[in-house]
Amino acid sequence: MERTELIREVERLKAERNAVILAHNYQLPEVQEVADYVGDSLGLARRAAETDARVIVFAGVHFMAETAAILNPDKTVLLPDLEAGCSLADTITPEDVRRWKDEHPDGIVVAYVNTTAEVKALADVCVTSSNAVEVVAQLPKDRPIFFLPDMFLGAHVERETGRKMDVWMGECHVHAGIRTEDIERALAAHPGAEFLIHPECGCSTNCLFMKPDAKMLSTSQMVAHAKESPAQEFVIATEVGILHQLAKQAPGKTFIPVREDAICEYMKKITLEKVYESLRDLKHVITVPEPTRQAAQRAIEGMIAVG
Ligand code: 13P
Ligand code: SF4
Repeated sequence: MERTELIREVERLKAERNAVILAHNYQLPEVQEVADYVGDSLGLARRAAETDARVIVFAGVHFMAETAAILNPDKTVLLPDLEAGCSLADTITPEDVRRWKDEHPDGIVVAYVNTTAEVKALADVCVTSSNAVEVVAQLPKDRPIFFLPDMFLGAHVERETGRKMDVWMGECHVHAGIRTEDIERALAAHPGAEFLIHPECGCSTNCLFMKPDAKMLSTSQMVAHAKESPAQEFVIATEVGILHQLAKQAPGKTFIPVREDAICEYMKKITLEKVYESLRDLKHVITVPEPTRQAAQRAIEGMIAVG
């Protein structure tokens, strides 16, 4: 099918099925363009919680669709490709969390939303890159905290809140692959540019020494900042899918990725064709077993309320 016909069919099926398409900022441009909402993990979870649609097509990765399913047990949540996983979510198992909890009966488990439903079900509260600092700052000061699974986001939260935590040593292969040298090169070539960096980046600690006014932001916070800032040029350290929203929301401004090859292959599993097939065949339905869903829902609702 030709692209214009595919878009027409997606629109037709969306109306027929009473469906909404939610897309992450890292999705392919043509997928972002058919979405009803494009955003970061927190914005997507909030939209999923609010929607009246019967069907949610999640153009993102598995943990995001699972989060939507946890919040909407009575709706049909579809992930167009089951291979859209997340290397960061894969770094930790429920057993790893149980072990820490057994050793720290008074401990608080803070799970980044990039985790499986089983891991979320063992957490006290979930966070995203846009509210992790705020959530942790509000936790009781006299209890140990286990922050999982991203070590670089964990270091950022420790730095910002002044709280010492047990941090799981997981990383995202895309953000960990962005090196200090990549940033040095981009900043040297664009000395007047503002520098926006995602807290999952492995070099995020070093970059604050290089550029103390670096802004550590979630993907949607980057878009909001670029729109409002008087700056015309921005060096961007995150997955390159964000460049589409940045260019669209802040037209006329210049965005320089620190690495053109910072590409999440999981996010790119979702194509326009697969979104169409997903709506046509109502596949692949994402469900979470009820006891796990209920436990995970408590932790996610704590996250949605903050920030
Ligand atoms: P955001 O919530 O900032 O969009 O990040 C999601 C993600 O997967 C980062 O790799
Ligand atoms: Fe997971 Fe990294 Fe891809 Fe985000 S960019 S979905 S953290 S693998």
